[in-house]
Amino acid sequence: MKKIALILMGCGGVGRQLLHHIVSCRSLHANQGVHLRVVGVCDSKSLVVAPDAHPSELDDNFLLEVCRVKGDGSSLSKLSGFGACRVFPDSELTAKVFDIASHLGKSTGLAIVDCSASSETTEILSRVIDLGCCVILANKKPLTSTMEYYDKLVSQPRQMRHESTVGAGLPIIASLNRILSSGDPVHRLVGSLSGTLGYVMSEVEDGKPLSQVVKTAKSLGYTEPDPRDDLGGMDVARKALILARLLGRRITMDSIKVESLYPDEMGPTVMSVDEFVSKGLPLLDKSICERVAKASVSGNVLRYVCVIEGTRCEVGIQELPRDSPLGRLRGSDNVLEVYTRCYNKQPLVIQGAGAGNDTTAAGVLADILDIQDLFP
Ligand SMILES: NC(=O)c1ccc[n+]([C@@H]2O[C@H](COP(=O)([O-])OP(=O)(O)OC[C@H]3O[C@@H](n4cnc5c(N)ncnc54)[C@H](OP(=O)(O)O)[C@@H]3O)[C@@H](O)[C@H]2O)c1
Repeated sequence: MKKIALILMGCGGVGRQLLHHIVSCRSLHANQGVHLRVVGVCDSKSLVVAPDAHPSELDDNFLLEVCRVKGDGSSLSKLSGFGACRVFPDSELTAKVFDIASHLGKSTGLAIVDCSASSETTEILSRVIDLGCCVILANKKPLTSTMEYYDKLVSQPRQMRHESTVGAGLPIIASLNRILSSGDPVHRLVGSLSGTLGYVMSEVEDGKPLSQVVKTAKSLGYTEPDPRDDLGGMDVARKALILARLLGRRITMDSIKVESLYPDEMGPTVMSVDEFVSKGLPLLDKSICERVAKASVSGNVLRYVCVIEGTRCEVGIQELPRDSPLGRLRGSDNVLEVYTRCYNKQPLVIQGAGAGNDTTAAGVLADILDIQDLFP
């Protein structure tokens, strides 16, 4: 049985779902000759580890208890005394992860799985790569930091997977890597990579006011608690940067042109969320409605997309043919059109749910299984 030791950083919606997937896939993985050995789990405040990282592991009952405690909104530190485990406070967290990585990295192997939403993990991830550890990311922040950190993280490509950073479980990164490694140059990427903005743009296309659509999206739980986190476009810009860097562009967040769907005067420092939704958003209805009508005259629709082509890397509203994969997009799916030498006139199209804990965690799990050959 091949044993893959891992430490999970981040135990929110995605991290918990990953633990559930690991536990429920035990017999499937056993049939494949693989066993995932969770030696540690951390949140923002504590690290819980098996008493001796080699050969022991946190057992499945313990992992389910971790999910229950985190699901209730408590800290992992609450688990001290439950089962055989050791709990480290945040002041010792990084040093302890590094310590385990030093012991296991070059012997049995270790995967550090980042399901946090923090930029604080970047430093440790960039260091454990040199210790022979694998790094699996759902978190976009380590890959969208400086070029220096990026270069470090991708310096051992076989040890690194990050499928879920763009399009959740969709095979976007894997497909692009296959295309690139076959020498087929990618000329252009156009993608609707925010489920929320995909939904918003397809609803305003039907003539509904932006303010109404955002209100509905918020009530359906499609938006972040503050919808400006979606409407500002920064999350799409991070995904665009990851894709652009994958294509070899050596750029940073500052070089990406980002169109926000709300002006600075309606920013979080000026208006509360309620004020923005009730008073700010309705002021934006007319201009979006006019842009939708203008696009429609030319047979086009508006989509909030990232465009990467040559030196251009932009995020914002674009007019696209109604009869194109992106133009046909309805609802919250992600769609990426990939134009290459082989996919020239008709792009390769990757479409499907691009968010959600289940699909994101499934993408992370598939990444973990994908590196099994690196484990002795
Ligand atoms: N949900 C999706 O649909 C989706 C799709 C694609 C990618 N992603 C990415 O997946 C990641 C996780 O998303 P989520 O929805 O699960 O986020 P979340 O619910 O906010 O959970 C984040 C977790 O990270 C922990 N954390 C924060 N700082 C940390 C640190 N320095 N070290 C270790 N852990 C730390 C938090 O700890 P506390 O519990 O103590 O606060 C929390 O457990 C994010 O980066 C997100 O962008 C999510």
